[in-house]
Amino acid sequence: MIELGVNIDHVATVRQARRTYEPDPVVAAALAEQGGADGITFHLREDRRHIQDRDVEILKQTVSVKTNLEIACADDVVAIACRIQPDWALLVPESREEVTTEGGLDVAADSGRIRDAIQKLQSSGILVSLFVDPDPFQVEAASKLGVSAVELHTGPYALAKGAEQAKELERLETAGNLASQCGLRLHAGHGLNYHNVRPVAEIQNMVELNIGHSIVSRAVMVGMRDAVAQMRQILDLVAP
Ligand code: PXP
Repeated sequence: MIELGVNIDHVATVRQARRTYEPDPVVAAALAEQGGADGITFHLREDRRHIQDRDVEILKQTVSVKTNLEIACADDVVAIACRIQPDWALLVPESREEVTTEGGLDVAADSGRIRDAIQKLQSSGILVSLFVDPDPFQVEAASKLGVSAVELHTGPYALAKGAEQAKELERLETAGNLASQCGLRLHAGHGLNYHNVRPVAEIQNMVELNIGHSIVSRAVMVGMRDAVAQMRQILDLVAP
């Protein structure tokens, strides 16, 4: 069975829009667990635009399924990961201008910095996965660094249509095969939604999918009727 990692960053994004206390990603994580999440993923970005240090601390204490902390290969966040001890650290590239993670790590070109981060995390007992494009060259380079998993970037597949999407799926399958041959656990994520997830879940040896935006978007929509009805009830108590 495919493991579902639920990314709760987008809940924190709504909270940070008002710099307030709600909605709390910690509460969202507990509800995601009740819904069947096998893991909770959260990205402590260097600019702290959504998940905050406080969230990471509390999530580690309250999440009972796997924790997967997404970070850049930067000393400060690697040090936080080593102290907090999530089950997994997912290393990603990060740039301040991007709206979301835009591409995979260039493992071959940047192996010194990545190797250093991997070494620190692994010696703290944390399993490491690398977010890479579905490119055999990157998968091989990741394998040489001795990580436990690769997460294949499904963003281009999610954005493509028709024949282009079929081509992107093939790239994912090829890279996935290679990852399995190298003995790597196969993860994938980015842009997956209720319409496009199935072919990716059916890739041979796929173990885990990390999904955030589409689940949080759906949660807003399925919750809207009740949320308005609850406010209506309060207002209906006011005497005319
Ligand atoms: N995997 C990685 C490495 C990501 O950066 C993200 C986005 O935060 C996801 C998976 C989840 O992507 P989405 O929010 O589009 O489902």
